[in-house]
Amino acid sequence: MDPNRVLIFDTTLRDGEQSPGISLNTGEKLEIAQQLARLGVDIIEAGFPIASPGDFEAVEAIARQVQGPVIAGLARANSTDIDAAWNAVRDSERPRIHTFVSTSDIHIEFQMQNTRADVLGLARAAVAQAKSYCDDVEFSPMDATRSDPEFTAEVLQIALDEGATTINIPDTVGYTMPDEYVRFLGRLYELVPGLHDVVLSTHCHDDLGLAVANSFAGVQAGARQVECAINGIGERAGNAALEEIVMLLGTRGADLDGLHTGVVTTELARTSRLVSRLTGYLVQPNKAVVGRNAFAHESGIHQDGVLKERTTFEIMDATSVGLDANQLVLGKHSGRHALRQALEELGYTVEGQALNTAFKRFKEIADKKKQVTAMDLEALVTDELREERGYALEGFDVEASSKRPPHATVAVRLPDGSLAEGSFTGDGPVDAVFHAINAATGVDARLREYRVDAVSEGQDALGDVSVVLELDGRTASGQGVSTDIIDASARAYLRALGLVEAKVAAGLEKPKPEVPEPLSAPAS
Ligand code: KIV
Ligand code: ZN
Repeated sequence: MDPNRVLIFDTTLRDGEQSPGISLNTGEKLEIAQQLARLGVDIIEAGFPIASPGDFEAVEAIARQVQGPVIAGLARANSTDIDAAWNAVRDSERPRIHTFVSTSDIHIEFQMQNTRADVLGLARAAVAQAKSYCDDVEFSPMDATRSDPEFTAEVLQIALDEGATTINIPDTVGYTMPDEYVRFLGRLYELVPGLHDVVLSTHCHDDLGLAVANSFAGVQAGARQVECAINGIGERAGNAALEEIVMLLGTRGADLDGLHTGVVTTELARTSRLVSRLTGYLVQPNKAVVGRNAFAHESGIHQDGVLKERTTFEIMDATSVGLDANQLVLGKHSGRHALRQALEELGYTVEGQALNTAFKRFKEIADKKKQVTAMDLEALVTDELREERGYALEGFDVEASSKRPPHATVAVRLPDGSLAEGSFTGDGPVDAVFHAINAATGVDARLREYRVDAVSEGQDALGDVSVVLELDGRTASGQGVSTDIIDASARAYLRALGLVEAKVAAGLEKPKPEVPEPLSAPAS
């Protein structure tokens, strides 16, 4: 293995998916995983299979269908979790089990209500069991950066003795600082020389805004795997942003003895948009690398400089991260064949009925928009070609005026195929439509979040709406895209409604690996 190659371990679908309000179904997770494979990440942590039957199904589907990267499943240090993780990833060409147990006294005492001796036993049993199934085993001492280095070293030695091939050192609560993390890793290398023979990994949270800096420091200290997530999503303030660490190494690699990754950087912007659209987590305009303004120059001095010579005020090229995807790709008169080809160039294979549906939506959009860009097509495909979740918008009518409250009537196709109508007079047109949908479906969901964004630039841009709904204590998000904001809102609402109802029916709740159940030590 090239000593300067830094492996990119993407945890968008596991740690990222644990972010509040994110709830991806199997189809969406597969779509993201396929794009991560196109992006060239080395490892996809596809989920936490024990968390729910849905999580298991998604990890299994990714393991079976996504080629290229290693597919990892997360497991706490107990035999049921490890069995579930193995059963979910076993059909992958390159499966990995990632198991973890806390090593900080604060977790051991208060959360697990265990002892250090118990943790040693749990780590040994977990890695041994995982290794009996799979050659590729990763072990993480959770909350490592708040743990006693000597005790952490003891645990790591056990993990190595049992055959772990990757050792990940999580900064679970985003507490460490770059120089402190470097010292911590250095001390572990001293205490456990065998760490030089396996891949050392970083997993840094962003509670103090240091996730990327800490991960980078970890790489400088010898780590050759970085765990990160697209757009930096993840528990609380999130994980290290994949696109930032990749472009940092890509841009400054020459000054870092040739450190590099295998990521196809031109896929970064598209991956970021896909994750944002499907999770409902918007990317701030000034977000490093993938934000809409990451390459925009507002001041006259900067614009003047860039026009004369791009490198005066740019350290990266927008095309190198794929942020130039707003070019015109199709015109109003383009046919089905041209659409299929354009979608193929964007990485989507769309055939048969799905192509007919996409073509119908494309024509609707092309009638209203002057230009249909690559970004519009991406939005349309991710909007239209999702799994059907029960409700479909048949039509709506909104009467709005500054003189009286808006009144909406909607027609909704219900899961049993029948048509239902509902009306409501609301505070605003969108509010009226949402309540009219509740009236039509007879489901009293509550709107928790509502966001609208433009897919591309210009007055005729497509609107991209995300909503989060709550029903009986469960939440789900939905997205909708249209040239009409009310249409996009109604589509987003109906998608979220179908999902949240399904969650309530299944009684689903995601257990959080950050807060594991107390575990008892295995019988010796
Ligand atoms: O933050 C953390 O410690 C984790 C572990 C499960 C690796 O996500
Ligand atoms: Zn984490």
